[in-house]
Amino acid sequence: MDGRDLVRSVRVVRAVGPAQGLRSVRAAWRARRADAVALPTRAPERARVPGAATGAEPQPGGGVIHFARSSLRVRVATGGAVFCGWDGAGPEPSYALAGACPEVDARAVLEPDTEGGWRVVSERVLVAVSRHGAVEVRTPGGAVLRRELPPRWWDRTAGPDGAGERAGRPEGSDGSRWVQRSEVAADARFFGLGGRAHGPRLRDGAYRLWNTDPGGAFVPGDDPLSLTMPVQLVVADAGTHLVFHDNSWDGRVLLREGAEGAGSGHDRPGTCEVRMDGGPLRYWVLAGTPARVLQMWTALTGAPALPPRWALGYQHARWGFGGQDEVRRIVAGYKERELPLSAVHLDIDHFDRHRVFTVDRARYPDLPGLARELRADGVRLVSIVDPAVKAEPGVAVYEGGAAADAFVRDARGREVRGVVWPGESVYPDFTDTRVRKWWGALYAERLAQGFSGFWHDMNEPVSFAPFGEQTLPRSARHALEGRGGDHREAHNVYGLAMARAGFEGLCELRPDERPFLFSRAGWAGLQRYGGTWSGDVATGWEGLRASLSLVLGLGLCGVPYSGPDVGGFSGAPSPELYVRWFQLGAYLPLFRTHSAVWAGRREPWEFGIAALGHARAALRERQRLLPYFVTLGQLARLAGAPYVRPVWWSSPRDRALRDCGDAFLLGDALLVAPVLQAGVTRRAVRLPRGRWYDTATGRAYEGPGQVWVDAPLSRIPVLARAGAVLPVADGDGGTQLEVWAPVAGREGGGLVVPDAGDGWQRPTVERFVTRREADGRVVVERRDGGAVGYRVRVRGLAEEVPAGADG
Ligand code: NOJ
Repeated sequence: MDGRDLVRSVRVVRAVGPAQGLRSVRAAWRARRADAVALPTRAPERARVPGAATGAEPQPGGGVIHFARSSLRVRVATGGAVFCGWDGAGPEPSYALAGACPEVDARAVLEPDTEGGWRVVSERVLVAVSRHGAVEVRTPGGAVLRRELPPRWWDRTAGPDGAGERAGRPEGSDGSRWVQRSEVAADARFFGLGGRAHGPRLRDGAYRLWNTDPGGAFVPGDDPLSLTMPVQLVVADAGTHLVFHDNSWDGRVLLREGAEGAGSGHDRPGTCEVRMDGGPLRYWVLAGTPARVLQMWTALTGAPALPPRWALGYQHARWGFGGQDEVRRIVAGYKERELPLSAVHLDIDHFDRHRVFTVDRARYPDLPGLARELRADGVRLVSIVDPAVKAEPGVAVYEGGAAADAFVRDARGREVRGVVWPGESVYPDFTDTRVRKWWGALYAERLAQGFSGFWHDMNEPVSFAPFGEQTLPRSARHALEGRGGDHREAHNVYGLAMARAGFEGLCELRPDERPFLFSRAGWAGLQRYGGTWSGDVATGWEGLRASLSLVLGLGLCGVPYSGPDVGGFSGAPSPELYVRWFQLGAYLPLFRTHSAVWAGRREPWEFGIAALGHARAALRERQRLLPYFVTLGQLARLAGAPYVRPVWWSSPRDRALRDCGDAFLLGDALLVAPVLQAGVTRRAVRLPRGRWYDTATGRAYEGPGQVWVDAPLSRIPVLARAGAVLPVADGDGGTQLEVWAPVAGREGGGLVVPDAGDGWQRPTVERFVTRREADGRVVVERRDGGAVGYRVRVRGLAEEVPAGADG
C-alpha cells in the first residue's frame, strides 16, 4: 500500500463508513487473489510485425492482403466508411455497431499499387497499403489524412493455459498486446477519446481507455474518467477524419501534435500511438467534413435517442434531500420565484438503505403521490439507478437476480462481490441478453413509483477498494453475448450494456414514450440509448472549464446529450462561480444543478439576490430557446450533428478556430462564449467567417477574427449568425421564428423540426431561407414554397455598419 492507496482508503471509509470500509479491504484482496489465480501470468512474448506482402484477394468492397505473418482486410462500406482489420479481424461482433454491419460498397476495388503494395479506391478515400503493411488513408485529391505504420503485436509464446502459442495461433485471437503508430499532418489537431477534462483539443500526452470513477472530484489533468472510447476526430487542413479502434480492452492513446517547419519544408508530423492490452486490431476510418463524418459515425453506431421535450428543460438534482417534504419545499421555492423547473432528480438517499429499486418509506411515504402532484405542476421525477445489488438474502432484487443467474461470477463460478453504497454487492452481467431483459423489467417498479427518467451511476462499474482497481476483478467472467470472456473485455462496455438494458426495458414498459436515461459510464454507441453527464466535476473554475471540454469532446464522439453538475459536484461555489456555471449550463443539452451531499446547496436563491436575478435570466432564456433545443435534438438524431459544436465545425481549415476551446456553436445559429475565469466582465471571442450579432446589444461583428465583447455578470456573450433562423418560444405557449438579418446580397437560413414533445412521430424538417432585399427588407421563405406558418421576428436590422474583427 503506498501513499495514494492510503488517501483512497480514507476516502472509501468516509464514503461508506468503517464497517463497509473493512468489507472493501476484503473485496480488494479477493479481487487480487482471483486475478492472480485466473489470469495468465506474464508469459514470454514474441514481437511480431506483418512482414512482407505475399499476395492479395479482392473481395466485394476491397479485399484481404496477405503478409508473411498476418493479413489485413480492407473493406469500404456504402456511405464511405473504411474498415481495416488485421489478423483476420472482421467488423463483427461489435458493441459499437448499431445493428448489422453496413453493406459493402461494391464499387470499391482492390488493385495493385506501385512498389509491390495494394490500394483500395473508393469514392471518398483511397487506402494505400505498402508491401510491409503501412496503410495510408488519402483524400480523393491525394492528400494524406493518416499514415499508419505497420502494427506490432506481442504474442504470448506459451501461457500457463498453453494459449497464445505463435505457431498454432488462431487468426484474430485476443491474447496479444499490440501497438499501432500513426502519423497525421503537422497542422492536425486531435479531439474526442470520449469525455476528457483536459480538452476539447487533446494536447500531447497519454490518454487511457479504461472507464474509471475519479472518486468524488476531478479536474483537468485527471485521466481517465468515467466515459472513455477509442474514437478520435482529427482535424487538419487536408481534411477531417474520425478513427475508431473497435476494441474495448484496456489501452492507451499517446498523442503528440506535429509542428510546422516555418517554411523550412521540415514539418514534424503529429503522431498517435494506440496501445492495447489485447483484443482485435481493427478500426474504422471516416473522412469528410465534420458534419459528414458525424453523420457517417451515427449511421455506423446508431442515431442518438431523442430526449422527451421536458428533458431539455432545467433540472435540479440533490444528493441528500431530507425526504418528500423537502422535495416539495424546493419545488415550491422554484415556483414562488418564477423559476422554470422541469425535473427533480432523487439520488441514492431516497432508496431504502441505498438499495437499488427500493424506496425509503420513512422519508418518502407516498412517492407516487408526490410524483403526481409535481407532474401537475409540470415537474418530473428522475431516479438514480446503480447497477450494484445488495447481496443479502431477502433483498428482492438480489433473490430475483440470483434465481435468474444474473450476476457476474469469477473463474471458479462464484458470484463476484464488491462494495458500493449498499454494502457488499453483486453485479448484473449486462453483456447477457437474458440479464438485460431481467434488469429492464425492473424499471416497472420505478415507473410505478412515478419516475419519468433514469440516471445511471457507478456503472464503470465501481467497487470501492482501498488498493488495486476500483472495479471488478479483471478475471471476472462475462457472457459477452454468448462468446464468453472476462472483465478485461467487458469493463468498458459495461455501462453501455446497462444503458441498453434500461432503454429496451423502458421501450417495452412504456412503448409510447421516449425513454429518458443518461449514464455516467459508456462507450461508442451510448447515444443509441441516451446521454451522459460530467460525473463528479470538481467545484472550481477549472471544473467549469472541464465541463465544457467534456460536452464538446463527447459530442464529437457521437454522444450529443450531456452536461455538467452546475456548480460543480464537490464543494461550495462562490456566487460568481455559480452564476457563470449556471449561464454555461443554460446553453448545454443537459442543464442540471447537482452536488455531493457534503457540498452545500445548489438552488439559485442560495447565492444571494443578485445571483438569483442572473440565474432567473439564464433560465428564462433557456425556456425561450426550448424549441431550438428540441430542433437540435431532432437534427442530432437525423444527422448526427451535436447540439454543442466546436467553433471550427463549419470552418475546419481556420487554424485559429481549431485551437479555440473556450466557446462553442449551439447549432448553426448561435455562438456561445461562456465566462470561464473569475473577475472577467469582458472577453475575447474568436469568430468564424461571416457577420455575427451580439444578441444582447445587437451590435454586429465581422468574422473571421477575434473581437472583444462585454460579459457582465448578468449574462454571457451569445452571438447570432447573420441570416440565421431559429425557433423560439413566443411567450404564449407557441413558437415563433427569430431571424437575424442576413448580409445584403447573401442568403441565410435555418431548419425547424416541430416536435410533439414525446412519442415516436416521424419528424418533418422545415427549411427556411432568408434574404436581404435591396431596400433593406428581410424576406423569409419556406424552401418548399409553402407558407411560413410562424410569426417572424427579425433582429439585427438596426446595425448597418458592422465592427471589424481585430485579427
Ligand atoms: C456518484 C455520482 O457521480 C454522483 O452524481 C452521485 O451524487 C453520487 N454517486 C451518489 O449517488
